Amino acid sequence: MAAVTDGATSVANTAELGDVVTSDDIRNRYIDLLRDSLTMMLWRGADGNTSGRDADSHGAMMRENGRDWPKLAHSMIGAKRMNNLQFCVEDVLKHDISGDLIETGVWRGGACIFMRGILAAHGDKSRRVWVADSFEGLPKANASKYPLDALGAPFHRFRQLAVSEEQVAENFRRYGLLDDQVVFLKGFFSESLPGAPIEKLAVLRLDGDMYESTIDALVNLYSKVSDGGYIIVDDYAIEGCREAINDFRRDNGIDDLIRTVDWSGVFWQKGSGPAPATLSTDEIEHEKKVLAETFDRSPGSTPATGVRALRTEVINRIPIPVRNRLVAARRALRSIVKPQ
Ligand SMILES: C[S@@+](CC[C@H](N)C(=O)[O-])C[C@H]1O[C@@H](n2cnc3c(N)ncnc32)[C@H](O)[C@@H]1O
Repeated sequence: MAAVTDGATSVANTAELGDVVTSDDIRNRYIDLLRDSLTMMLWRGADGNTSGRDADSHGAMMRENGRDWPKLAHSMIGAKRMNNLQFCVEDVLKHDISGDLIETGVWRGGACIFMRGILAAHGDKSRRVWVADSFEGLPKANASKYPLDALGAPFHRFRQLAVSEEQVAENFRRYGLLDDQVVFLKGFFSESLPGAPIEKLAVLRLDGDMYESTIDALVNLYSKVSDGGYIIVDDYAIEGCREAINDFRRDNGIDDLIRTVDWSGVFWQKGSGPAPATLSTDEIEHEKKVLAETFDRSPGSTPATGVRALRTEVINRIPIPVRNRLVAARRALRSIVKPQ
């Protein structure tokens, strides 16, 4: 059985039909099936997009790369970021890194359902999956406190991002995964996270799109992540989110190597340390693949996404101290051009 990679590649289930199957084979088949149901990869993304795109031949590619807001799928994050989530959850199980799992920003709940399913597949009965969301969509940008949010997309107007707690619970139930290991944390993060009764986390998955949503999660939860645990960022391609990550890391002296998952997803392991002087051949191959996909101009990767992703890629490759100075310079410039 091939091991799952740390990036976006799925577990290659090498068991042939008819072979004697081991419990590992069955587990991997269950997890693959769960991922492909949650993302609608099983139907090649044929449900289409909430913004109006009907099912077309690019559905599978969009869904693989998490580039659309699907009509019916229970997760929008795409197969590659699901594979990365699987890697992180299985890695903390394997190395006995203590703590619960959380996603801040769950939409229809798909990534949390996946985490609960992975725990079930490994027979873990001790860890909880925290499901944190307003269940009313994103907050209106607070322009004076978080100017980048005001410059970004008006997320609070996108009503398709508001999914009720009842609907998310129902989605868990349909997969047979709603039980007392699943805990809902309702409210905007600025209110729900400061007093949340979470003791320790092994995986912190951030998917709140905005500067405010990202920084609120980091400020309230980062210190609870165990050494060896993972911080996963879904929206590094969105400027507000990216700057929240960069600001928090700079202000807290975090230099753990950020690794890319795909055109938008990045992650780091707490306490893993800065980038080594040289990358391994596997890492170089992975980075090359992400880069090629980022610049992919085939249908389904829209020009806007391409430009945004290009910027992300360029920025990702600038060493963090230099990047921080650029961010500061840009802010200074912005305050001269457009005083707050
Ligand atoms: C892009 S969706 C998450 C997608 C999801 N992870 C998946 O698997 O498909 C963003 C979600 O974050 C929530 N959200 C964003 N900012 C928030 C905040 N500050 N407080 C509470 N919920 C927030 C929204 O309600 C929405 O459900």
